[in-house]
Amino acid sequence: MKKSVRYILNGLTLPVFVVDPNSKISFMNKAAKSRYKNAKSGQEFSKVITSKKCNKALTDVLNGAANATANVTMQEVVPTSFRVSLSRLDSDSDPLPSCVLSFEDVSHIQEAEQMRHDFVANVSHELRSPLTALTGFVETMQGPAKDDKEAQHRFLGMMANEADRMGRLIGDLLSLSRLQAGERVPPTDSVNLSHLLKNVASSLGGLAERGEITLSLDFADELPFVVGDYDELTQVFQNLVENAIKYSPKKSEVRIFQDLNGSDAANLTIGVQDAGDGIDPTHIPRLTERFYRVDKGRSRAQGGTGLGLAIVKHILIRHRGWLKITSELGKGSVFTVNLPVAKSDG
Ligand SMILES: Nc1ncnc2c1ncn2[C@@H]1O[C@H](COP(=O)(O)OP(=O)(O)O)[C@@H](O)[C@H]1O
Ligand SMILES: [Mg+2]
Repeated sequence: MKKSVRYILNGLTLPVFVVDPNSKISFMNKAAKSRYKNAKSGQEFSKVITSKKCNKALTDVLNGAANATANVTMQEVVPTSFRVSLSRLDSDSDPLPSCVLSFEDVSHIQEAEQMRHDFVANVSHELRSPLTALTGFVETMQGPAKDDKEAQHRFLGMMANEADRMGRLIGDLLSLSRLQAGERVPPTDSVNLSHLLKNVASSLGGLAERGEITLSLDFADELPFVVGDYDELTQVFQNLVENAIKYSPKKSEVRIFQDLNGSDAANLTIGVQDAGDGIDPTHIPRLTERFYRVDKGRSRAQGGTGLGLAIVKHILIRHRGWLKITSELGKGSVFTVNLPVAKSDG
């Protein structure tokens, strides 16, 4: 093979093999060598890549087919999916053709497709349950409860609840899709976080009161300003404080505090702490996934959509901040938010 061709193939990030008419490897580019460390030139190709589909395609090409492709999954460190493209390589010196094979890792594409598929299935399911309930109420009111004023009144209340649930779900879905679209553009405003946190606390005062929860604010009046979007950060803390209240027992305390360990000149760290049941460590890494809930029934009963923490995560990505969750079963949880401090103009 010409030197220049080798250079070109070595410059590619895709693993490339050239296999001679005897099914032996005659060339591997750099990417192939680094991925398949035990493979050597001269070795039988099927000893390196054992996939039947891939070897069948190779035989086809060596027998004269111009092209072939094979989709194969191979057990590497984790199972990895490749699209293998094979093409015939005729040479002047040899009457029989060789074959060039390139391996394109398509695992991430498949994962994204799977996620999209799961997401659509989840959304449909979440929308269908309130819709089914609504349809049921309508039928009952048209039939058995046609003349029962009192039952109708009760049903209308429940119907309003179901409609609210659908409304919340659609609102959260729209928030999420807007956030994902704008994630690459960071916010530029300076936000007065003490002001924002007090507002969040007072807007959730009613919910706290109903749960007999004491909301305590434990931070300086003059917190440094952070770089952010006021409405989005309100959404972050509203979600976290609302969760803390919802998932806490009566007569307990929810505390919003400045975490002095995490805060420095460039970062402001705020914690939301509850004395609820806590979260088992196996669930913690998944809490920010869309629709992930530890206890579906409980979340639903509280009017949750399962999207709150996913929204929080995306807002914090856009803000170049982060969320940390620590929790101990039986003791409670702390959700910690870190945000970049705004540079003062002075
Ligand atoms: N403070 C908390 N204490 C215990 N569990 C929590 C807390 N915050 C969130 N969770 C768990 O994380 C899940 C996801 O939260 P979230 O995305 O806000 O959805 P939702 O509150 O609508 O169910 C909740 O269903 C709950 O199981
Ligand atoms: Mg929530």
